[in-house]
Parts: sequence; structure tokens; C-alpha cells
Amino acid sequence: MTRYLLAIDQGTTSSRAIVFDQSGNSIATDQQEFHQYFPKDGWVEHDALEIWESTLSVCRGALKQAGIEAGALAGIGITNQRETTVVWERDSGRPIHHAIVWQDRRTASLCAKLKADGHEDTVVDRTGLLIDPYFSATKIAWILDHVDGARARAEAGELAFGTVDSWLLWNLTGGRSHRTDATNASRTALFNIHDQDWDPTLLDLFRIPKALLPEVLDSAADYGTAQPEWLGAPVSIAGIAGDQHAALIGQACFSPGMAKSTYGTGCFLMLNTGDRAVRSENRLLTTMAYRLNGKPCYAVEGSIFVAGAAMQWLRDGLKLIRHASESSAHAEAVGVDNPVYLVPAFTGLGAPHWDPHARGAIMGLTRDTGIGEIVTAGLQSVCYQTKDLVRAIQNDGASLASLRVDGGMAVNDWVMQFLADILNVTVDRPRVTETTALGAAYLAGLQTGLFESLEQISELWECERQFHPTMRPALRESLYAGWLDAVERVCNN
Ligand code: G3P
Repeated sequence: MTRYLLAIDQGTTSSRAIVFDQSGNSIATDQQEFHQYFPKDGWVEHDALEIWESTLSVCRGALKQAGIEAGALAGIGITNQRETTVVWERDSGRPIHHAIVWQDRRTASLCAKLKADGHEDTVVDRTGLLIDPYFSATKIAWILDHVDGARARAEAGELAFGTVDSWLLWNLTGGRSHRTDATNASRTALFNIHDQDWDPTLLDLFRIPKALLPEVLDSAADYGTAQPEWLGAPVSIAGIAGDQHAALIGQACFSPGMAKSTYGTGCFLMLNTGDRAVRSENRLLTTMAYRLNGKPCYAVEGSIFVAGAAMQWLRDGLKLIRHASESSAHAEAVGVDNPVYLVPAFTGLGAPHWDPHARGAIMGLTRDTGIGEIVTAGLQSVCYQTKDLVRAIQNDGASLASLRVDGGMAVNDWVMQFLADILNVTVDRPRVTETTALGAAYLAGLQTGLFESLEQISELWECERQFHPTMRPALRESLYAGWLDAVERVCNN
């Protein structure tokens, strides 16, 4: 009998579920967007109940489209937007506040104070992260300090914290399982990536009661059972990883030196460093790649907060295009030598600048600038930001022979060619660009025996197209110099 895997990919702007067969082919997909709340400048929230309801609905939708019953599933893999923070009541399962999303900058002043007080080294040494509002720790503290009675209730063990994976797991298991995996834990700024455990010094520093925290398991593990009321039969939840880590797995980047870059809401470049947690001298993060059979594998990560979201803003905010796919026609007409630069620092800048106060700008406007130049600048901003990351990786002494790409924008040939040109690195696009969901399915498949090993998964990876750099070095340098100049103007660092 054919067995299937259900991957839940709970992202920043939509919840998706994909059914995969045991060769890693996607059989059916369902997707739902949900509300984004922007209550103040730099604040971003989600309704955690809407996240759960939309997730359940797409799981049911994907099974229906695949024409299979839940009983045909070997297991469920969950992958998720990382760092986004949910705190809920253990007895009712109700969140006590909207989820605070990874992009949210409300804790910038708390982070500045912790840095000014000299705590950054402690955080870097233990977590591989920097002090920044991006990570969960200060978001949890904010909720405990701003919701009436929350801190006392947290200390009394009445509340639970989770990143979105834990929140979904809790709901799927009917409140029986409060767990997370090592990759998601590694994004909270509370998890010691060397000891592989919650770190008491960091819990003290960020004032987080231990009673709030989930148990941390390997990325492929027995997380609990989805209750039959949800999908019609009990299903084992057998894999969890944060979305970027899942994409690394879906891209089969299992050997040190292999790298992938995922273009979703943001862009996240990860380089596998094997069993060594390499400390960056250029403000990249050290993070978990994955943890399997108790063995941690590490990665270096560059995190960009706005990539696809810039195109979404050009479409929905400025209404310059009706569909993201129109952007290529503009870019073809304008060409690469575009004097306009768009710095999409809508929620500050991530790696390697880490400036929560930076805000976006469009520069180089002249009387003849049109929609085409601005839209092209939006596409190019994604590639220039990736170049910032690759430069940081190279300055750290690593070399990048090629880069595996995935996510929504990876299907855009113009962008991928410009990326190869500006990076001066070969860009490899796989046959399956749904690598995030695929990675979650692989994890669940490893745990349930559908996949035997990482070697077997590596053999399933297929290149659909390679983009080779062809740009003249002088043009590459002058275009990138224009970008660096534009970024310098919005940065306060
Ligand atoms: O760290 C945030 C990241 O996990 C969000 O990913 O795919 O929603 O842009 P995405």
C-alpha cells in the first residue's frame, strides 16, 4: 500500500499543507492566507487562533484534493515561520495575546539596553544569535510585562510559550504535547546550541520562567498524535523544523559547505558547517541546521527580513503591478543597469547590518523614472541583499561554489540570472522548489521509516536549471557599489 506524508508549512503570510508520496513527489496542495496586523510602526502581529484554524483547514483541503484518507498517512511533518511567539493558557488553550511576529521591532529599546549593558557576548556565545528584536526571548518578556497578571501566571506554570510549531502541535494533539525541535528552539535566544538545552543564564537575563518552555526533541522524533477529530484518524506527528532549516533539508544540503537561499517573505541563506558551530566575525548567525539521532548539525545563516514582501508591497501597497509575475516584463524592459535602488528596510535591516531603526527608501529617482525602474529595483534589492550575505560568508573565510535556491521568487528566471551575475556564483534551481514543505515531509519520513537515510534523500535532489554568472566584473562592481551607497543612507549603525 502506498503511504503518504502530510507536510504543514505554516508561513508568515499563509498556511499551506502538501501531501507527498514516498518518492517526494507532491500530490496535492492547499493554501490559505490570513490577516496581518500592523498596530504601530514596526509592530507585526498574527491571530494565533486564525493560524491554527487556517492550518487545520488546509490539512483537510490537501487530503481531500489528494483523494486520500488520513489513515493512508505515515506521518505529519511541521515546518513554520520561526521566532514568532505565542503564549497561551494551558487549561483553556487560549492565547493571551496576539502572536508577535518575527518581523516585529517593538522590543528594540529593550535590546538596545541589553547591548549597552554588555550582554551581547553572553548571548552570542551560548545561542549563536545576536541581541535583536527578531528573536523570541524579548517578545515573550514583552507579553509577560504587558498582559495583566501574565508574569505571575507564567511563574505558576499556568501558561505555555511556543513558536508556531509548538502551538500547532499543542492544538493537533489536543493539548497533550508541549514540545518543539532543536532548530526552532535555537531561534528563541534562550537555547544553548552547544549544550542543546534551555540555558539558565539566558532565562535569567531575559526574565523568562522555565515553566513556560516546551520540551526540545530532535527534528525527526515522536512528537505526539494528531487527534482523530481533526483529520478523521489519529496520525503521528513525526518531524518538526523551522522553515529555513526544513528548506536546507529539502535542498539536501547535508555536507559542510553546501548552501541554500530561500526567497519567501524574507530571504534566508544557510551554509551547512557540519558538527562545528562556527562563529561569524561578520554578524551572521550560528544556528542549528538540524538535529537527528541526538547529533547536532550546525549552520551559518544570513537573515534578510524583506524579499518577496517587497514585491507584495509594490503590488498591494503601491499597486504598481497586478501580479508578481508582471515584474519580469518590467525588468526585461529596464535591463540590469538600473540607476534606481529600493532598500526595503520596512522593519529595519537584518544581517549583516542589524539595524532595527532603519526604514525603507527609494533612491536614484530622476524625472524619467517610471514604474518599470521601481519594480526592477524591487527585484534587484533581493539579489543585492543576498550579495551582502555572501560577502559576509566569504569574509568569514568560507567559499561558496554554488547556491541552491528555492521559494516563490526562485521561479523568476530574470531574478535568478541577475542573482548569479551579482554574486558571481552559480545558482542551482531544483526541480521541486517547494523545498520547505519537502524538508518537513522528509523528516517525518525518516522517523516513520519511509526514508532510510540522508543519502537516500540526497539522491532524490534534481537540478532543474543552472544559472551561470556572465556579467562583466566592472558592471557588477559599479551596480553593487550603488547598492552599498543606498544602504548606507538608511542605516543608523
Ligand atoms: O525567520 C523567519 C522565517 O522563518 C520566515 O520565513 O518563509 O515566512 O519568509 P518566511
